[in-house]
Order: sequence, then structure tokens, then C-alpha cells
Amino acid sequence: MRLQGKAGLITAAASGMGLAGALRFAEEGASVAVVDRDHGAAEAAVEQIRARGGKAFALSGDLRDDGFARGIVEETLKSFGRLDFVWNHVGHPASAQVEDEDMENFALALDINLRSVFNTTAATIRPMREAGGGSILFTSSTSGLVASANSPIYTAAKFGVLGLMRGLARRFAKEGIRCNAVCPGPVDTPMLRSFVARPDQNLANDVEDLVAKRGALTPMGRNGKPHEIANAALFLISDEASFITGVALPVDGGSTA
Ligand SMILES: NC(=O)c1ccc[n+]([C@@H]2O[C@H](COP(=O)([O-])OP(=O)(O)OC[C@H]3O[C@@H](n4cnc5c(N)ncnc54)[C@H](O)[C@@H]3O)[C@@H](O)[C@H]2O)c1
Repeated sequence: MRLQGKAGLITAAASGMGLAGALRFAEEGASVAVVDRDHGAAEAAVEQIRARGGKAFALSGDLRDDGFARGIVEETLKSFGRLDFVWNHVGHPASAQVEDEDMENFALALDINLRSVFNTTAATIRPMREAGGGSILFTSSTSGLVASANSPIYTAAKFGVLGLMRGLARRFAKEGIRCNAVCPGPVDTPMLRSFVARPDQNLANDVEDLVAKRGALTPMGRNGKPHEIANAALFLISDEASFITGVALPVDGGSTA
């Protein structure tokens, strides 16, 4: 088991890739705090993990709240007595607007994609330093590597996530705290549906059709599956990646090749 005896938290873990990660990490022996604002879905994820013999508990709340985004670290430590990994997976699609963008939407996009991620990470440093190290994983996007014309605000936020990750990787490397990121291409989750169906893109087509078309644009000709990103996350989180820090790993079917 690749995470035997380890413990940590995953944000946005009640759905999609975060859920796949929670299940996968638990299967590999980790105790997992499932953080999500969807209370029912977070509890359901915990039930699934426990039914398979794993250890988990749910922390429900909105990560836009600074106190919650920081407090989840302490809660995880209190429950498991250790903190080996944190996967900052939460994110928000943002709007496609520029000229007519409402600044409240702009602030919301940055609050979820960057502010909440910074908060959780900031609270993670002290306990990881005291424990002699740990692994922090971020979820950026292919839009954090190559700009998306349809999503300049999301692009800015996801480039920002990688900037934060790289700065932290260099800053805390000598203290044994590794920081890396996964950069997913299109992955078949509810969030992909909100991306392709954003009303401000005037795409009045069938959402499932748009989802399939999005996948067809990748070199592999399909969307990713949540477990495929969870497997990449597992590697970066685990001790198998012990000499890897500051890396942004595309998991994108060749899209950024
Ligand atoms: N799906 C894709 O195609 C894709 C591609 C690249 C990157 N990403 C990134 O992956 C991450 C999530 O994607 P997913 O596709 O696994 O999502 P998803 O839609 O399957 O699940 C998102 C989860 O986040 C939770 N959530 C949203 N806002 C929250 C908040 N403020 N506080 C607490 N919980 C909140 C939701 O309740 C939900 O359970 C994001 O960072 C996103 O930018 C997604």
C-alpha cells in the first residue's frame, strides 16, 4: 500500500476527481478528511470509503470562508494525529466574459481558485514543518500552462496556482515539504459540464454533445476519467515522488504536447 499509515485532506472531495482521489488514497492505506461544501455528498463519500474498509471523515463548509479554509488543517490533525498530505483540489470555472465582466464574479473566481487555496496551504506549513515534512498537491489545469481564449480569468487564476506552488516548492524544499500540481485536461465531471455550458458563451447546444466534442479535441480523442487524475495525484503525493517538487504534471491526453 502506497500511503500506508499516512493521513491528510482533500478539498472538493465529494465529487469528480477529488472523490476519485479520496477513494484511491484510502484504498492505498491513507486516512482522508473529505472537505466539501456539499454536506450530503461529503458524508456519502465517507460512507463509501468506510464500506471499503478505509478511514475517513467529512468536513463540510465553504472554502471561500477564510476561517474554514484554514481550520480544516487543524481538524484533520485533531482527528488523525498527523498530516502527511494536503490536496488543494477546489476550483471554480469563472465566467468567459471580459468587457462586461461583473467584478463580483471576478472576485468569486479568485477567492475559490486562489484565496482559499492560499489559506489552506498557509495553515499547512507549520504542522508539516514541525513533523519534518509533507506533501502538498495543487490542482491547476491545462489552462494553467496554455492560455484559454474562452477563459482568461480562469487562465489567470490557474497560472496563479502554479506560481504559488512553484514559489512554495522552492521556499520549503529544505524543510521536506514538497509542492506539486496536476494540470488536468478536460475530465468527465460536473465541472466540465458547467464549463462547456457556460451561458455567456452562447452555446445553446446539448451539454452531453458539447462534452463529447470537447474530448474529441484532445490528441487521445476523449475526456479524461476522474480516476486517471487521481492516479497521477497518488504518485505525486506518495513517497515514490520523494525527489520531485515544483512540478506541474499535465494529465491531459496529450493536449499540451
Ligand atoms: N473537470 C475538468 O474538466 C477540469 C479540468 C481542469 C481542471 N479542473 C479543476 O479540477 C477541480 C475540480 O474539478 P472536478 O471536475 O473534480 O469538480 P466537480 O465538479 O466534480 O466537483 C467540484 C466539487 O467542489 C465542491 N466545491 C465547489 N466550490 C466549493 C467551495 N467554495 N467550498 C467547498 N467545496 C466546493 C463542490 O461541492 C463539488 O463537490 C477544480 O480545481 C477545477 O478547476 C477541472
